[in-house]
Amino acid sequence: MLAQQTVLVVGGTGRTGGRVVGQLLDRGVNVVAIVRSAVRLPAGVAGHPGLTVVEADLLSLTDEDLAQHVQGCDAVISCLGHVINLRGIFGPPRDLVTRATSRLCRAIEASKPGEPVKFILMSSVSVDHPGNLDPRRGVLEKVAMWLLSVAIPPTKDNQRAADFLHSDIGTDNAFLQWVAVRPDTLREGDKTDYSLHEFLVSSLFKPDNTNMSNVAHFMCELATNPDTWGDWVGELPVIINPASADSRGGRP
Ligand SMILES: NC(=O)c1ccc[n+]([C@@H]2O[C@H](COP(=O)([O-])OP(=O)(O)OC[C@H]3O[C@@H](n4cnc5c(N)ncnc54)[C@H](OP(=O)(O)O)[C@@H]3O)[C@@H](O)[C@H]2O)c1
Repeated sequence: MLAQQTVLVVGGTGRTGGRVVGQLLDRGVNVVAIVRSAVRLPAGVAGHPGLTVVEADLLSLTDEDLAQHVQGCDAVISCLGHVINLRGIFGPPRDLVTRATSRLCRAIEASKPGEPVKFILMSSVSVDHPGNLDPRRGVLEKVAMWLLSVAIPPTKDNQRAADFLHSDIGTDNAFLQWVAVRPDTLREGDKTDYSLHEFLVSSLFKPDNTNMSNVAHFMCELATNPDTWGDWVGELPVIINPASADSRGGRP
């Protein structure tokens, strides 16, 4: 019998993070959720015996507090993101995702787990593979991406968080391993089949769709299924809905 798993989730009050919390609890996984306001957690999870809620501003927690929260967790899932309004996009903290990612990873290292902890980041197709492995974007798209990164702070923040995992954590860290999941345009809707790709398959000008339920399902699979983890560890998989994928294939 598998040992009881515990997963720390940040961003659990968000559209995708809330689905992650619900799906993990449905799988019988213990969840620790650090949230700014517990009332924003999805209906149905409040009072669940497998859920521990820590009501706190993640970036204001001390290093010691963070290390204590990650202690004993098998995986950490971050679905944090800049709230889509003027304050969320242009106000502080502009480095929300990068800072949360680096602090959580350093807290995992400080806790010196016996087995590497899985760190799963919700990233975006606006993020380029830090190893320059994606197909080259066209000139117009490159210009558009550059303008976006200058004008829209979350674009640069998401890229820096992925760069941090790729360059600073790398693939031979004794205490943690990572996957950065890159969905395309997020949609409501039920869990469907979905396809996974090692590299970008669409362009900024012809985006694909990704149901948030599918992102949550894949993140939960990464956290709980060793085969799925083994397939994607250290990578930045792109996840899209099947109707979007048409004949472009994808990794099973
Ligand atoms: N929109 C898209 O089409 C798209 C596509 C691909 C990837 N993404 C990426 O996916 C991620 C998640 O998207 P989503 O739509 O599921 O997120 P969302 O619903 O906007 O939720 C954002 C989460 O981040 C938390 N948060 C925001 N600012 C915070 C802060 N300063 N301190 C602590 N927590 C904070 C929010 O907490 P509160 O409830 O307390 O505000 C919430 O839990 C984002 O990083 C986004 O870049 C988006």
